[in-house]
Amino acid sequence: RAILHGDLRGEDVIVVSNREPYIHQYRRADGGIEVQRPASGLVTALEPVMRACSGVWIATGSGSADRAVVDANDRVAVPPERPSYQLRRIWLSPEEEAGYYYGFANEGLWPLCHIAHVRPTFRSGDWAHYLAANRRFAEAVVREAKTDDPIVLVQDYHFALLPRMIHESLPDATVITFWHIPWPNPESFAICPWALEILNGLLGSNILGFHTQFHCNNFVDTVDRLIEARVDRETFTVSQGGKLTAVRRYPISIAWPPVEDMVGKPVADCRHDVRAGNGLPPGQLIGIGVDRLDYTKGIIERFLAVERLFELNPQRIGQFTFIQIAAPSRSSIDEYRHHEEAVNALAARINARFSGPAPAILLKVEHHEAARVYEYYRAAEVCFVGSLHDGMNLVAKEFVAARDDERGVLVLSQFTGAARELPEALVVNPYDVDQCAAALELALAMPPEEQGDRMRLMRRLISEFNVYRWAGRMLLDAALMRRRSKLPDNPV
Ligand code: G6P
Repeated sequence: RAILHGDLRGEDVIVVSNREPYIHQYRRADGGIEVQRPASGLVTALEPVMRACSGVWIATGSGSADRAVVDANDRVAVPPERPSYQLRRIWLSPEEEAGYYYGFANEGLWPLCHIAHVRPTFRSGDWAHYLAANRRFAEAVVREAKTDDPIVLVQDYHFALLPRMIHESLPDATVITFWHIPWPNPESFAICPWALEILNGLLGSNILGFHTQFHCNNFVDTVDRLIEARVDRETFTVSQGGKLTAVRRYPISIAWPPVEDMVGKPVADCRHDVRAGNGLPPGQLIGIGVDRLDYTKGIIERFLAVERLFELNPQRIGQFTFIQIAAPSRSSIDEYRHHEEAVNALAARINARFSGPAPAILLKVEHHEAARVYEYYRAAEVCFVGSLHDGMNLVAKEFVAARDDERGVLVLSQFTGAARELPEALVVNPYDVDQCAAALELALAMPPEEQGDRMRLMRRLISEFNVYRWAGRMLLDAALMRRRSKLPDNPV
């Protein structure tokens, strides 16, 4: 955190993401405004970074009371309880949101980049909105820049065209783009009718970051295959028209130490409150899953594994409950609505088969505040992260951070970025129902010493590679580039 403060003193830092870190939801009866922290890995990671270095965060306004709190420049100081940076909101019309966010970003790029076997949909109308929305954010960056060489941190697949647009208007800006989701292989990426425009857009960045080396490799292979550019595999840079982009791996993480509010409540109280609050008997064994209700998260496969656990270990019936917290997400997209129906139906079917005095599966489709989620993490015997494909997955890291008692077992999909960093978890293939069921049983039966050994190793890694280091490393690399670019040209 100190490094961030030091490096950024006096710098003009702008973050751009689609999702805003605080949503002003509605006015309560007492006159106050209800503020929500959205369920987004990107926000979870970036918010502590922005708290540490004041700057401007530009994002789409999404709450019904969002307009009520901004000033004439559409800005509001956040966090509400202790303002330390500015949130600048962009207002999109329902048509813009349908085309840019639901359409191109979430029915096109999202399934294109995740191997979850959902077919991407590309429509030229959505593309036009995507282009226009990127343009509007680029204009906002130019307006918010206090200097002609700001550091701009562009976040995620909503803004593939933005780096090039910023570079054209502010050629001395340092643009660091981070792609929070996987990058597919060249054959898959070429499905996108606007593949070339997207690559050219991203190559307006000075640094382009991914969570894993595998995704860096896929990106560089895609560039090599699809466009005219010079790829240097020694330095992992791409140069195109005199512009150099460094492609780098920066595995994202979470704040460490975790905020006191999250881990302040004793584990025994969390265990008691979670059981009592959900009508479960004392001593009930608990598994926890925490996700957005998204088809990439493998919720169906996870429930099938719980079902198989009961088939193979009947003594667990009535003794173990799997609690799935599922935050509603992108529900105007058909694929998400169908997925929600399928998840509900499967939970009901498994509960009809296997509930004892307590249900087999407790499905909670609603938004949970972070402090509540941490209570669940602290109450659980096992946390099951079963994504079919995931850039990083911060739930895995949050669960580990929550367990300062060094107990609890993480079952983790091999198809998450997190699995590369946390091999001490029980790493599973979420498509292999038998293997996942066996991992759940292993977790429930694991001796406390082994839980402690695994948990300590994972906690050590996350404490060291926390989110400040993630941001710090990108900014250090950027600072070096800035200093180099200010040197006179080599005279010899
Ligand atoms: C993923 C994406 C983020 C996004 C989050 C929540 O983590 O990488 O960019 O914010 O999902 O999705 P939403 O569509 O609600 O912002």
